[in-house]
Amino acid sequence: MPENLLKGKKGIITGALDENSIAWQTALKAKEQGARFVLTNAPIAMRMGAIKELAEACDTIIIPADATSVEDIEKLYDEAKEYLGGNLDFLLHSIGMSPNVRKGREYGDLNYEWVQKAYDVSAISFHKMLQVAEKKDFLNEWGSVVALSYIAAQRAFPFYSDMSEAKAILESIARNYGLRYGKMKKVRINTISQSPTKTTAGSGIDGFNDFFDYADMVSPLGNASAEACAEYIVTLFSDFTRMVTMQNLFHDGGYSYTGISQEVIDNFVNHRS
Ligand code: NAI
Repeated sequence: MPENLLKGKKGIITGALDENSIAWQTALKAKEQGARFVLTNAPIAMRMGAIKELAEACDTIIIPADATSVEDIEKLYDEAKEYLGGNLDFLLHSIGMSPNVRKGREYGDLNYEWVQKAYDVSAISFHKMLQVAEKKDFLNEWGSVVALSYIAAQRAFPFYSDMSEAKAILESIARNYGLRYGKMKKVRINTISQSPTKTTAGSGIDGFNDFFDYADMVSPLGNASAEACAEYIVTLFSDFTRMVTMQNLFHDGGYSYTGISQEVIDNFVNHRS
């Protein structure tokens, strides 16, 4: 294992809810690799308490912030800057939620207020985090910003509903803000398109476990775990990926480029006969 990839780097990690969260694993890896950072989550997630254990393990603080609120983000950045002593080098956006998916509303029967909520929480919040960072000149040169996406941004999946559009918006924001922030300050912005992962957000999707097994069977390397995703995120925060920006990077064991696997065909044939 490499050591101290993030030595001297400071950042903010959003979205750690419990130990299954991609953000939780990222915090542990970032700490292991020498980074200093603050944790943040929506005030409601904070009341659930588990994040306090993570803060202790990472020797840091938690600053509550609703990522849909510009005022909360401003306060988050001010407090993070004070605690960490200066501008930051990395931001992780690991936030997603769709009320329609959560409440099992069909794609042909969406509640449009909830659609707006899904876009705001899962995608527009990313733009807000970037815009507030720009206005406050909060990120150092060659800083790195990563958000988590899913392949339903490019391909149709029957169960992903309005989160598909939310992820398409998220990836578009990474490209467009990547162009702007790269030119302005050499800040790089990417999304990672992750395998299905057994987390609270993932498991909230109808039929998730069956699809998880299917994706695992399709991918030549199997599904990528939250821990493996955390390791990839750390490389993107490190100086070894300085020229990567505006990309949607698949971290999925090869799923995105596989047509079909022999195992899936065999399974289908066995099932039919
Ligand atoms: P998770 O449920 O552990 O994390 C989602 C986080 O979003 C939670 O910590 C939640 O409190 C936070 N959140 C929700 N509303 C918020 C708000 N208004 N302000 C601030 N934070 C808020 O689940 P997971 O899977 O770690 O999700 C992280 C990211 O990874 C999400 O963007 C998700 O869509 C993405 N992703 C997940 C996959 C999966 O199968 N689990 C696959 C591909 C991407």
